[in-house]
Amino acid sequence: MSNKVSRRTFLSYTLMGTGGFMASAMLMPMIRFAIDPVLASAGGSDFIPTPQKADELTETPVRVDYTIKDRQDAWYTSDVSNTAWVYKEGDKVIALSPVCKHLGCTVNWEGDEHKNEFFCPCHAGRYKKNGDNIPGTPPLGPLDEYEVEVIDGFVNLGGVIPNTLV
Ligand code: FES
Repeated sequence: MSNKVSRRTFLSYTLMGTGGFMASAMLMPMIRFAIDPVLASAGGSDFIPTPQKADELTETPVRVDYTIKDRQDAWYTSDVSNTAWVYKEGDKVIALSPVCKHLGCTVNWEGDEHKNEFFCPCHAGRYKKNGDNIPGTPPLGPLDEYEVEVIDGFVNLGGVIPNTLV
């Protein structure tokens, strides 16, 4: 039995090898682009600096607006504005999410008729200062909390966690 490779077979193998190499060179960047967000790590819960000085906080919640820079959302990177209600209880800094646990409107602190409470204007939802939802109003759970760190005197906020105060 002869092991000689015919000219035709040699040319077929060479063309298949070259074609396969060129096809993979063209497809790999496209595949990589398509699945890159899936492969990217979640990034953990980084703390984002806010303009709020910790020593200026009192026991009355203040609205703190801050920006999450270069937030990765699938294929897009953008700056995202965020808000928290922040106050002090003793030495502890507490930050609550403003997102109502009924249908996601933004809650406000106090108002003329709701002293010492968070109030949701959408369906009159009410929460105590610690975020606990007041029975008989639409929200079925307490406001979420943010992880908090004070770095160089400024409040830094991390990820949203379930309320630990109620
Ligand atoms: S969305 Fe807040 S009470 Fe309905």
